[in-house]
Amino acid sequence: MEKPLITVIGSVNMDLVTNTNIFPTQGETVIGDFFKTLPGGKGANQAIAAARLGGRVQFIGRVGDDSFGVELKKVLNDEGIHLINVEPVTHMSSGVATIILSEGDNRIIVTPGANDYVDIEYVERLKDQILKSDLVLVQFEIPLETIRYILTLCKDNDIPVIVNPAPARQLEMDDWVKATYITPNETEAVQLFGDVKNQPISKQLIITQGSEGASFLVGETFKQIPTYKVPVTDTTGAGDTFNGALAVALMEGLELAEAIKFANGAAALSVQKLGAQTGMPTREDLDNFFQKRRGLT
Ligand code: RIB
Repeated sequence: MEKPLITVIGSVNMDLVTNTNIFPTQGETVIGDFFKTLPGGKGANQAIAAARLGGRVQFIGRVGDDSFGVELKKVLNDEGIHLINVEPVTHMSSGVATIILSEGDNRIIVTPGANDYVDIEYVERLKDQILKSDLVLVQFEIPLETIRYILTLCKDNDIPVIVNPAPARQLEMDDWVKATYITPNETEAVQLFGDVKNQPISKQLIITQGSEGASFLVGETFKQIPTYKVPVTDTTGAGDTFNGALAVALMEGLELAEAIKFANGAAALSVQKLGAQTGMPTREDLDNFFQKRRGLT
C-alpha cells in the first residue's frame, strides 16, 4: 500500500550564512569568521525533513530564473521529493535569506523574490494535485492570501493542514480555525494569539519552545513534552525539522504526544550541524538516536 501523501506548499531560499563573534550594531562593521551558501527556505526545509524521515512528499513552490533556482530545485529532487511545477519565475531572483550566526543563535532577513509568486492563481492551477494529499503543510513565507485559499480548499475537502505561522503574520480567526494544527514558536504564539489558553484555536496549538521541547493543551493547561539535551551548533531550521517530522509521525498514526516526541528528537539532531538542512536526520539516524537515548532527556 502506498504511504500517505504529504504536500508541502511553501518557500525555497538560498541561505547566505555569515558566522561572526559579534553582531554589528547600527552603522558598525565587524569581521566575520566564515561565509557559506546553503539551501534553505521554510517550505523546502520542511519537505526535506519529512522526506528524510520516510514521508512521501510532494512540493509546490517557485524559484527564480537564476543559478540559485537551478541548484535549489536539484537539492529537492535529490531528496526524492516530487516537485509539482516548480518552475522559475521569469526575471525574478530566487528567495534568499541573509543569516547572521553568532553566540549560538541567529538573525535572519528573508527576501522572498520568486516565493511571492506562489499566488492563488498558481496554486489553483495545481488544485487537483493538492486534493490528492493526506496532509498539507504550509508556512508563512508565501503570500497570506494563498495560505487562506489553501486553508479553505483543504477544509472543504477534509484534508488536514498543519500551519507553521513563521514568520508571524496575522490571519483572521475565521481562517485560523480551518487549520488542524498551528505550530508557532513561543514568540510567535504570543505575537499572534496573546493569551494562548483562551482562544478558539487553543486546542489546535502546538507551541515549540526550543531547548525546552514543545507543548499542547490538555484540559486546562499546556502539557510540555521535553526535548533532549544536545550540543548546539546551529538552530536554523530546527523548527522546520520539527514540523516535517510532526507531519510524518501524524501520518504514521502516532498520538499527538508521541508525534511531538518524535519531532523533538528530529529537531534535537538537526541543531547539531551547521545549516538548516545539513543536520536533518534520516529515519535511521533518528531511530538510532532514540535507541541510545531511551528514557533519557
Ligand atoms: O527556518 C529557517 C529558514 O528560514 C532558513 O532556511 C531561511 O531560508 C529562512 O527562510
